[in-house]
Amino acid sequence: VDASKVHRTGYHFQPPKNWINDPNGPMYYNGVYHLFYQYNPKGAIWGNIVWAHSVSKDLINWIPLEPAIYPSKVFDKYGTWSGSATILPGNKPVILYTGIVDANKTQVQNYAIPANMSDPYLRKWIKPDNNPLIVADKTINKSQFRDPTTAWMGRDGNWRILVGSVRNHRGKVIMYKSNKNFMKWTKAKHPLHSAPGTGNWECPDFFPVSLKNKNGLDTSYNGKDIKHVLKVSFDVTRFDHYTIGTYDTKKDKYFPDNTSIDGWKGLRLDYGNYYASKTFFDSGKNRRILLGWANESDTVDNDVRKGWAGVHPIPRKIWLDPSGKQLVQWPVQELETLRKKKVQLNNKKLNKGKKVEIKGITVAQADVEVIFSFTSLDKAEPFDPSWADLYAQDVCAIKGSTVQGGLGPFGLLTLASKNLEEYTPVFFRIFKAHDKYKVLMCSDASRSSLKNETTMYKPSFAGYVDVDLADKKLSLRSLIDHSVVESFGAGGKTCITSRVYPTLAIFDKAHLFVFNNGAERITIETLNAWSMANAKLH
Ligand code: FRU
Repeated sequence: VDASKVHRTGYHFQPPKNWINDPNGPMYYNGVYHLFYQYNPKGAIWGNIVWAHSVSKDLINWIPLEPAIYPSKVFDKYGTWSGSATILPGNKPVILYTGIVDANKTQVQNYAIPANMSDPYLRKWIKPDNNPLIVADKTINKSQFRDPTTAWMGRDGNWRILVGSVRNHRGKVIMYKSNKNFMKWTKAKHPLHSAPGTGNWECPDFFPVSLKNKNGLDTSYNGKDIKHVLKVSFDVTRFDHYTIGTYDTKKDKYFPDNTSIDGWKGLRLDYGNYYASKTFFDSGKNRRILLGWANESDTVDNDVRKGWAGVHPIPRKIWLDPSGKQLVQWPVQELETLRKKKVQLNNKKLNKGKKVEIKGITVAQADVEVIFSFTSLDKAEPFDPSWADLYAQDVCAIKGSTVQGGLGPFGLLTLASKNLEEYTPVFFRIFKAHDKYKVLMCSDASRSSLKNETTMYKPSFAGYVDVDLADKKLSLRSLIDHSVVESFGAGGKTCITSRVYPTLAIFDKAHLFVFNNGAERITIETLNAWSMANAKLH
């Protein structure tokens, strides 16, 4: 089979060829969703970056357009890096992006506006000559100064944005303010927030969430019954971390709650191949949408051979969990329009060591939703206290899907070859810690591919699921798409995306199983699985 085709996705966003990374400037404008993204028009490795542009009516099917922003001026000659869109009063969109001005990667913040407001797709963008809007002052490391956020308007009527940066390993988001005209930006006295030992903060995102319901809020909204979320991408670990806290509008500072820690042990939007994400407020459906980049696990050589690298996860609706302690994410409902043939299982018992195969659908390109139940928590294994210092991912590497347990491991074996030479298990394992149960969710790529190139990335991704087990149920949804397994535990409380490169488990040679490898019998209460149609992507 043609190497460039085997692992291409059917319904996850990707252009026909070449390298992609961050989603940029997403917005909903006059009934159209705009997605811009970092793209190399010349090849499958990072470089020559432009803002490619696609539009959509449903966030799933996309129409490709010409690149909207590309290096051409003194203020962006060496690169047009990530940024965000803001819709100004009078329904006027404006993009802020990072321009690279020299070979030392000096970074400045620029703006661009639509050339023709009557074009429904806003195909052409102008970069006016009063750019750059913001340059680094002497206190700022000018080669680590990028990725402006969507602007929000404070009570004083001034606009604010954040720019990601670092100083002495302290990651920070520098704040700038402008008056109403959006053109005159001055650095605020303090960064909005910073944290020691976290390294460079890329692609910041700062937005309000409702304490009352799942609806989204405009980025400038401020009032009662909200919290704020600060998300940053850690350059060092390549994970997207966030905290939930309070935005003090008097001090113009952000304070994470005491349940929300900064740093590498803090909350992540996704515990897998997921980086440089960004949200926007969808005023059409009153929701906040999260977009991201599912970076590669394959080797650079293979990327070049395939002629492409990088995909985007399915856009997710994002809201605050009723506990106020974390976010919840769920694939946008529009994805369900791609569901075709369905198979279903009900009330199926799985004893220890048993598995059932899900047949009759295209399991290499599928959407699978399952609810597991069990009758007792008694068999949960003790949580080794020494694991408290480990990342969930390290515990998953020790306690993989084939290591028999008490309550779990149980879950799915996705992209499995017939005789299990290859498979990517997505599963739960429940431990009993001294005063509570700990639910581990894993998406383990360690056996995903027989390919054994030394630089091939096959991590045992995992996160804990903060869930009440009173009803003795756990749900799992996995979006399987050839080289993507994007999973949502407990209704989207813990999300893990794996990028995998099976050699045997491809197309109709791929299998899907539900398994239980724990002593406690598990019931598949309901399982619904669908073949997924191809999205229109190009
Ligand atoms: C994140 C990032 C951004 C930068 C862009 C360059 O992946 O490094 O910080 O603006 O990609 O393509």
